[in-house]
Amino acid sequence: MAGKSMHAFCYEGYGGGAAALKKVEIPVPTPKKGEILVKVEAASINSVDLKIQNGVMRPLYPKFPCVPLFDVTGEVVNIGAGVNDFQPGDKIVTLLDFKVGGLAEYTVAPTNRIAKRPHEVSAVEAASLPVAAATAFQALELVGATFDGTGKPFNVLITAASGGVGHFAVQLAKLAGLHVTATCGARNIDFVKSLGADEVLDYRTTEGESLKSPSGKKYDAVVHCTVGIAWSVFEKNLSKNGKVIDLTPGFSSFVTLALKKITFSKKQLVPYFANIGSKDLEFLVGLVKDGKLKPVIDSKHSFDKAPEAWAKSMEGHATGKIVIEI
Ligand SMILES: NC(=O)c1ccc[n+]([C@@H]2O[C@H](COP(=O)([O-])OP(=O)(O)OC[C@H]3O[C@@H](n4cnc5c(N)ncnc54)[C@H](OP(=O)(O)O)[C@@H]3O)[C@@H](O)[C@H]2O)c1
Repeated sequence: MAGKSMHAFCYEGYGGGAAALKKVEIPVPTPKKGEILVKVEAASINSVDLKIQNGVMRPLYPKFPCVPLFDVTGEVVNIGAGVNDFQPGDKIVTLLDFKVGGLAEYTVAPTNRIAKRPHEVSAVEAASLPVAAATAFQALELVGATFDGTGKPFNVLITAASGGVGHFAVQLAKLAGLHVTATCGARNIDFVKSLGADEVLDYRTTEGESLKSPSGKKYDAVVHCTVGIAWSVFEKNLSKNGKVIDLTPGFSSFVTLALKKITFSKKQLVPYFANIGSKDLEFLVGLVKDGKLKPVIDSKHSFDKAPEAWAKSMEGHATGKIVIEI
């Protein structure tokens, strides 16, 4: 593929939203040692992609022009030196690193965050998995959930259960045998129940704001997937050793963490950033293959309509995942 060109969408500076995404023709990247060249079939958008465009990692990342998106699935078309486990023709799902983005016809993927995609798992389903499902999985593991039927049941609260991360968290928590209370908007209550949630709170009501479990349960763990909930609200609803895994940590989360440590509090707030590897992806792909985990797709968009998908993602009202087919 050396010397060939491909289409990609990129943006040239911070901000600008969907309108800043421009379709360009750039060289097909070359896989280096330990990397593979992938013909992209589908990619999904995560909140982090939007935050990066708005400069959350400035000045370290990105370099402009930036081809965005990390969650990718496709077919291996070439391999770099030292790659033994993959060969051209393999279908894979991967979480890209910070080199070449996935909103392109081809990308290069590292081999430490990759899983083979069996034919039972569609490209759209696979593209929805890496960041959202693996983050949900890791947050649940962190609070002691196990997925092999050996764990003890406990009570978990999942906030923003209708979103990309939340809808996977509900399904995985049920697989682990947990009692799930979930929050979402009124229009998604039936949807979140259909994922297996035992109790659902509408986050725009007084009951929802209080986070009180309708059946009076205290939460042993919270997988927190949204913003704007004070620690004092969580604290009232936690069991003696309850932990909040905060997936959207801000300054106040770190202050609360420090205070809880200093005061030897058993109730804790844990700011958490997922660190996703091949094992997580293999496990999750396996669950989808076996019909135990069902990615829910908010909407599919064609490659040319990528800016439309970006704009929809920016609205923050996805039910499940937003995926672009390439
Ligand atoms: N720490 C990490 O490693 C990590 C990894 C992945 C994601 N995250 C973060 O996790 C957050 C969620 O990501 P996501 O991809 O799941 O987002 P998302 O898909 O955009 O979430 C949208 C959904 O959240 C619901 N929602 C919004 N505010 C809510 C609230 N206050 N209470 C209940 N539901 C609410 C919306 O419902 P309505 O339409 O009804 O409002 C919508 O269905 C983001 O901030 C993201 O950056 C962190």
